[in-house]
Amino acid sequence: MLDGKKVLFSGMQATGNLTLGNYLGALKNWVNLSEEYECFYSVVDLHSITVRQDPSELRQRARKLLALYIAAGLDPEKNCIYYQSHVSGHAELAWILNCFTYMGELNRMTQFKDKAAKHADNINAGLFTYPVLMAADILLYQADVVPVGKDQLQHLEITRDIAQRFNAIYGDVFTIPEPFIGKTGAKIASLQDPSKKMSKSDENANASIYLMDDPDTVIRKFKRAVTDSEAQVRYREEQPGIRNLIDIYCVCTGKSPEDTEKEFDGKGYGEFKLAVGEAVVSVLKPLQSRFAELIKDKSYIDRVIKENGDKANYFAAKTLRKVQKKVGFPERVR
Ligand code: TYM
Repeated sequence: MLDGKKVLFSGMQATGNLTLGNYLGALKNWVNLSEEYECFYSVVDLHSITVRQDPSELRQRARKLLALYIAAGLDPEKNCIYYQSHVSGHAELAWILNCFTYMGELNRMTQFKDKAAKHADNINAGLFTYPVLMAADILLYQADVVPVGKDQLQHLEITRDIAQRFNAIYGDVFTIPEPFIGKTGAKIASLQDPSKKMSKSDENANASIYLMDDPDTVIRKFKRAVTDSEAQVRYREEQPGIRNLIDIYCVCTGKSPEDTEKEFDGKGYGEFKLAVGEAVVSVLKPLQSRFAELIKDKSYIDRVIKENGDKANYFAAKTLRKVQKKVGFPERVR
């Protein structure tokens, strides 16, 4: 609890181009939560270097992601939007939590297995302990809730396990966080292979809608989306491609799958795909134009970075000092 409100934490990596999956599964759900929660949203650049990055590109992407948070509707006066690397408490707590996490637990993480397979030439220790850093992010702010897409659930479970283990030894130090999964859009699939999630690291650019794609590109990618030969717009397991398009359509228009089935009853896939594309364009256009304005305003963005970075540091330090004391580090002499 902070100022009588529950605390919420989430983050995104500034790696690659953000996709519609990131937006519909996470960012879109973050907006309007600040009345109910004290919100912290981090650009998690420490996580990004678990795979090789071009330094200047990473810096630019991190700044763009921060601006995108604001463009999506997160008011930086009401939400603490900051760079993870500006708060050293994340790395310090991660070290401590490493000592309370078992190799066997980390070995079971599916994201580690996937990433290790993808980057076989760089299976570094950071990639392995990635979930511990994520636990530190969340526990540092004593977060009650963590809004994420379904792919992050396993990381939330290990966070809870680590926190409970630590609390069992040292008393009630950490709040045990709950995942918060949006009712819709929690798992947006690839447009080329609906059995996979839409991912910024997909090599096939047609598989993902990027948030900065122009309208023609968006429409073209939807036209090419892999579907089936059933020739009916139905929301069912046996039609994963169409089901995914219905999901996207529903999140963008606010309609239900039943209404969508009725709307496109007897109509062809061509017409449906075009409607999905247009619905996505109407969501992306205002986001893109607001982003274009914001990113030009250097002094405003700098001010947000400074002020919110200070705020995050203040709250992070409180938990960190408590944890350091619990594990037995000597007190500082003032
Ligand atoms: P990242 O950067 O891969 O993704 C950011 C958010 O987008 C969600 N997401 C999706 N949701 C629906 N459909 C998809 N296809 C899709 N792809 C991505 C993710 O679930 C996530 O919510 N490890 C995290 C970042 C992180 C974090 C944290 C998150 C670091 N520390 C602490 C929460 C709390 C990650 O790489 O997300």
